Order: sequence, then C-alpha cells, then structure tokens
Amino acid sequence: EEVRVFAPATVANVICGYDILGFALDEPGDEVIMRRTKEAGVKIVNIQGDDGRLPWAAEKNTVSASVQNYLELIGRNDIGVEIELFKHMPIGSGLGSSAASTVAGLYAINQLLGQPISQRELLPLAMKGEELACGYPHADNVAPSLLGGFTLVRSYEPLDVIHLPVPANLYCSVIFPHVDVPTRAAREMIRKKVLLKDAVQQWGNIAGLVSGLFMEDYDLISRSMEDVLIEPTRAILIPEFYEMRKIAMSAGALSFGISGSGPSVFSFTTNRELAQEISHKISKHLNAHGIECNTYVSSI
Ligand code: HSE
Repeated sequence: EEVRVFAPATVANVICGYDILGFALDEPGDEVIMRRTKEAGVKIVNIQGDDGRLPWAAEKNTVSASVQNYLELIGRNDIGVEIELFKHMPIGSGLGSSAASTVAGLYAINQLLGQPISQRELLPLAMKGEELACGYPHADNVAPSLLGGFTLVRSYEPLDVIHLPVPANLYCSVIFPHVDVPTRAAREMIRKKVLLKDAVQQWGNIAGLVSGLFMEDYDLISRSMEDVLIEPTRAILIPEFYEMRKIAMSAGALSFGISGSGPSVFSFTTNRELAQEISHKISKHLNAHGIECNTYVSSI
C-alpha cells in the first residue's frame, strides 16, 4: 500500500504580517510517496529535484524527521515506512519549500495509517520540521500549506491558527530570482527591537489587510500591504527589488513585496491576466540584468 501526497508552496508574511500571515499557491509544490515496510523505522529511498542539496539521513531530513516525530507522538515506533520526495520547487526560494515537503510527509503518514490524528494536530509537528530547517518553528508557511487558503497565526503559545476569507478576484504573481537566500540567515539579520511608532504603523497595516480580506475591499488591501519593519533590511538581499516594485505597481498591481524570507517576491492583482503581465515584465527586466528567474501565477 502506498500514498502519494502533494503540498503547495506558500507565501508567508504577506508583507506586513511577519511570522503570522500566509497563503497557499496553486503551484508549485512538493510531492511525497510513502509506503509501509516490514522493518520498523523511517527511511528516505529517493529524493528528486533538489540538485543533491537535501540530506538523506532520517534524523536530518525534515520530512523523515517529522514522520519519526509523528510515529513517536502516536506511540507507533514499531511501524516502518519508506519515503520518496519529489521537489518541484527551488530550495531557499522564500516559497515555503521545506514546509511543503514536511507537510506532504506528515499528511502522507497520517493517511497511510488511517488518520489517527486530525489535520490540525499535524501542525505542531510540521512546525518542529521548520525548526529543524531554519532554527525557528514558525508556522506561517506550514499552516497554509497544510490547511489551504489564507491563514493567520493569532498566537504561537498557545497555538491559535485562524482561516481567513479571500475575496473572489484576488490573484498573485510570484517571481523567484535565482539567488540563494537561506531563511536562517534572513532571520538572523533582522533587528530584534522595533520602535513603537513603527510597531503602530505595522499593526495598523495588519488589521487593515485582514479587514480588507473580510470586506472584499481591494483598495484597503492595497493600502495595507506595507512593511516598515522587515523589508528595509531584507530587500538588500534581493537584486532589483525596488525596480521590480516600480514595474509591478505602475502596471496596476495592488501590492508588491517579499515572499517569506525572499528572494521570491510577489504581487497581488485583481485579475489573472494582469498577474501574468507583471510576471512577464519583471522576468524580462531581471533577464536584461543577467538574472534568471521562475514565475508562477496563482489564484488565492
Ligand atoms: N516568517 C518567516 C520569515 C517565513 O520571514 O522568516 C520564512 O519563509
């Protein structure tokens, strides 16, 4: 018996909501195939699409390590499984690559065993996987990858994750410029203290964005997608960041900013054609500057 599971890439932070907001994309995503083995233990037997970058050792790979944690949690260390991981998206891209793999693995093992625990109960295990990948158990990629849609982490302790509604005509253009920005490094460079006046502006924006989603107010969504805390520091790691913003905003995007810890960037639009046009214009600009990129367009 085997199961095959796909988990989607995600955009975390959504500009103003560092570590608390995130949403799932239609594509790309990762796939896991998992089957039971006679012998107890978790084994990685195949990894494709990672250019040899991911570890195969069961305790080091976030997928197998998370599956081991899962088996421990449900008290079934007697079970054996083998895992194949197919990465369909770049590592270190800011699109929740480790989260998608981890979520696919956890969902797969839970399916394989007849769902002894709920989808929500998989979340803390997926967060542990993120801790292994980048040093901190942030949930803003794993929550939307696991639950779908747009999610808000209202609190980490205790964990309180809320599903948010999304207006019908919201689309997203994602551009991944081919430079490497490891999440761990991109987290370490952020200032740990913020000014109260900046915090006020930031939480005004978060509240504005969430209200905009509920009220289907595209203009409010657009006004609220501003990050005064993190972006000024992280933008330095992303080539042509401010030029890309100019291109997106003058083409009619609602917003433009960093996806997760970067280097991917994304724009919201109110129709698919405009999202495609923005992807096209930005990729042309990057190519002219000698930078390769991948682009994705998604509904939200
Ligand atoms: N909230 C996380 C960060 C997302 O910005 O570091 C990482 O993809």
